[in-house]
Amino acid sequence: MSRHLLDLDDLSASELSDVLDLSEQVDLGRPLAGRGVALLFEKPSTRTRHSTEMAVVQLGGHPAYVRADEVGIDERETAEDVARTLACYHATTCARVFDHTRLTRMAAASPVPVVNLLSDLAHPVQALADLLTIRQELGRLAGVTLAWVGDWSNVARSLCFGAALCGLHVRVAAPDGYGPTEPDLERLVLAGAASVDAAHRAADAVKGADVVVTDAWYSMGQESEAQARRRAFEGFGVDAALMSGAASTAIFLHCLPAHRGEEVASEVLEGPHSRVWAEATNRMHTMRGLLAWLARQPGRP
Ligand code: CP
Ligand code: NVA
Repeated sequence: MSRHLLDLDDLSASELSDVLDLSEQVDLGRPLAGRGVALLFEKPSTRTRHSTEMAVVQLGGHPAYVRADEVGIDERETAEDVARTLACYHATTCARVFDHTRLTRMAAASPVPVVNLLSDLAHPVQALADLLTIRQELGRLAGVTLAWVGDWSNVARSLCFGAALCGLHVRVAAPDGYGPTEPDLERLVLAGAASVDAAHRAADAVKGADVVVTDAWYSMGQESEAQARRRAFEGFGVDAALMSGAASTAIFLHCLPAHRGEEVASEVLEGPHSRVWAEATNRMHTMRGLLAWLARQPGRP
């Protein structure tokens, strides 16, 4: 039975640590030599597509990009039949989809690993890069305080869950109706977070934090809500005044693309705390680590 990565809870804490360790090895050999990796996209992408393509190349494989409208998932044929077909030619299927259940259906039918390249619910490969960046910049993960400010987005869910798995303190500040639910918070506690705090004010969440993270106020597919969300998120933008409440050594992360003047001020994105380009670079290293780890799993076809 294949391992999949639909969200970070598909990995144990020690497996997550192994993936991060592999991600720091520059030469992982050519475990994908002569193999393909299918990259299926229903939404636009810059970082995810290019970092994954280059990670596949570095592992000796061939990335095969395909736009979802060429495949016609659940129109030309079912998501299950698409997954089974791609598995006839590729070592792994990676997909960016609107509806997470499409991924769970593909994974259930696929004899090769299915990797989530972003869905409405989760963005685990982004979280891997964020955790590696925190570990590299701060020298540790357990005990670090991470403040998530803004929308409880796909990126927030995966990163906060990964942070919990690695023993970080997790704080979240979001406007009413846009933050984590009680079950979300319980999931963080059960995953092993050092502490979990859903502060309402951004300043409370950021106070003394080691890492401050945010994401767009409206994700791909939510463009019609942009105006309403801009109003709802007033006071939740990360600017220099907010960052001044964090630890003096704090780092700022953002998955990108950024909306300067909305969720983040230019002065923060371009400022001394920002590590967003190290984070973007780590997308390629963590994808290489993940694909190499998947290639090493027992029973891998
Ligand atoms: N952070 C991220 O996933 O970027 P893309 O949407 O450009 O892939
Ligand atoms: N939450 C954003 C992340 C983009 C990488 C989105 O889903 O559009």
